[in-house]
Amino acid sequence: MPLWNVPVSQWPTVVRRLIRTSARRYCPCRASRVLCLVGLALLASSLGASEPSRAEQGYDVLRTRAFLPADFDDEVFDALWTVWPDEQKSLAKKASLEERRQMVRDYYGLVASPDDRHAGQPALGYSSNGRGGWVMNCLSCHGGTIDGVPYAGRPNHRYALETLTEDVRTVKLKLGKKWTHMDLASLRYPLGGSVGTTNSVMFGVILGAHRKPDMTVDLTLSQPPLMHHDMDAPPFWNVRKKTMLYADGFAPKTHRVLMQFMLLPTNSRETVYGWEDDFRAILDWIESVPVPRYIGKIDDSLADQGRAVFEEHCSRCHGTYGPDGTYPQQIVALDDVGTDPLRFQALTVEHREWMKQGWMSRYGEDEVNSATKGYVAPPLDGIWASAPYFHNGSVPTLWHVLHPDDRPVVWRMTGDALDDERMGLRIDTFDEVPESAKSAGERRRYFDTRKPGKSAAGHRYPDALSEDQKRALLEYLKSL
Ligand code: HEC
Ligand code: HEC
Repeated sequence: MPLWNVPVSQWPTVVRRLIRTSARRYCPCRASRVLCLVGLALLASSLGASEPSRAEQGYDVLRTRAFLPADFDDEVFDALWTVWPDEQKSLAKKASLEERRQMVRDYYGLVASPDDRHAGQPALGYSSNGRGGWVMNCLSCHGGTIDGVPYAGRPNHRYALETLTEDVRTVKLKLGKKWTHMDLASLRYPLGGSVGTTNSVMFGVILGAHRKPDMTVDLTLSQPPLMHHDMDAPPFWNVRKKTMLYADGFAPKTHRVLMQFMLLPTNSRETVYGWEDDFRAILDWIESVPVPRYIGKIDDSLADQGRAVFEEHCSRCHGTYGPDGTYPQQIVALDDVGTDPLRFQALTVEHREWMKQGWMSRYGEDEVNSATKGYVAPPLDGIWASAPYFHNGSVPTLWHVLHPDDRPVVWRMTGDALDDERMGLRIDTFDEVPESAKSAGERRRYFDTRKPGKSAAGHRYPDALSEDQKRALLEYLKSL
């Protein structure tokens, strides 16, 4: 795997492996090979001996620490295929154990552990609890694949959280195992109505609702009204350019804000306080995730023409790129950008104020923008690699971003390879979700832009451009 594809925290492991394999290949005779190997081993261990940076420690914590109870165990994982629709089930039945495990990962969008150092972890997005239990971590949503290759920090556009949870529940019933927090939560709240998107913002509201401002758990506190909607997680490699987080830029970029996901009532105030250092390290790692560089060919002269178009029509909101790049972090009013409004409406001023009044923002010392008026124009670095687009993941390729009238009404991903013509997901399009999609899990594989929160409308800025300008712009976007 090329080094750019591996998080910085794993470079020493990769380099050590390279040294080891080259020693085997290039040391000429047996006696000198022993010496050679000893020398190279010393070099390799000195590489590893340096103290890991805080960012590296953050990545290790993310991959290995069980902050929450397990969602299921190895036994449940290995039985998931038994509750699939007939066609997929019969394929799984014929497969070997390893093939079947890969089928299960593909079915739910679970990404295999990409590095040797964490080979003991069940998946990129799940940490082990040491007893065969799978504990969800941040990378379940924030760790995906680029053209089929795992990449920590790329949003997981294949994650089928709700289908996974439903199937886990059924399997647990069959095996006589106890339901846990996620099984129960999903009976009350939707987890994600289409593959690759989740109702995460409401998870945050629900978890935060039962805490006093200093984070003491208080189950008598009432929950604000909920407006469920699905979101596509943003890529981590852009966090370093921002000072405010989330689609509407309301929250300060601090480690405490990232701790929302841990606020299950079983984690007491003291436990949450005790994790602050871990989350400082996690934020360091997030800010160190490299921008993935486009893997295919770029037509440089066309891209140059595209840069001129971009600077005239897009830069005022999305900034400029290259060594002297600037990022204005523009918040664009809802009726100007015109993308789906539900995410904006779902977080009320009261909820934003909740953050302002509590420990998360150091009681308002860290700026909270509770009066935000719309969505942030995100940085477009590595934009070729983070389809689908917009905060709700409603637009499958960059070509469709640039051609608003041709955006599909209903679409479904076909495989995990990159569409490098239109830049983004390979898809089939439909007028309706087909009748043949019977189970809820099958229906979630179709992104239906007519459902609440899922509109692909808006962002009509490309309308001002000719077809030639759009072609050049698309080429330029690959180079960011
Ligand atoms: C269930 C899926 C899910 C999990 C798990 C999850 N996130 Fe997120 N995350 C999201 C979504 C969706 C957003 C976008 C929310 C928004 O903009 O309102 C987001 C936003 C963020 C952002 C803001 C990025 C930006 O550019 O504004 C950061 C940072 C982040 N998450 C870190 C984490 C960390 C750290 C964890 C683990 C402690 C975590 N997330 C767990 C789905 C998830
Ligand atoms: C007036 C400000 C503004 C202008 C001008 C503008 N954009 Fe945007 N852009 C936005 C906002 C705001 C969003 C986020 C919308 C959302 O997620 O709902 C966005 C989102 C995007 C996205 C999706 C990003 C992602 O991570 O999903 C792309 C791609 C994009 N813009 C490209 C362009 C291009 C190319 C141009 C020039 C033709 C352009 N934009 C002009 C404000 C603008």
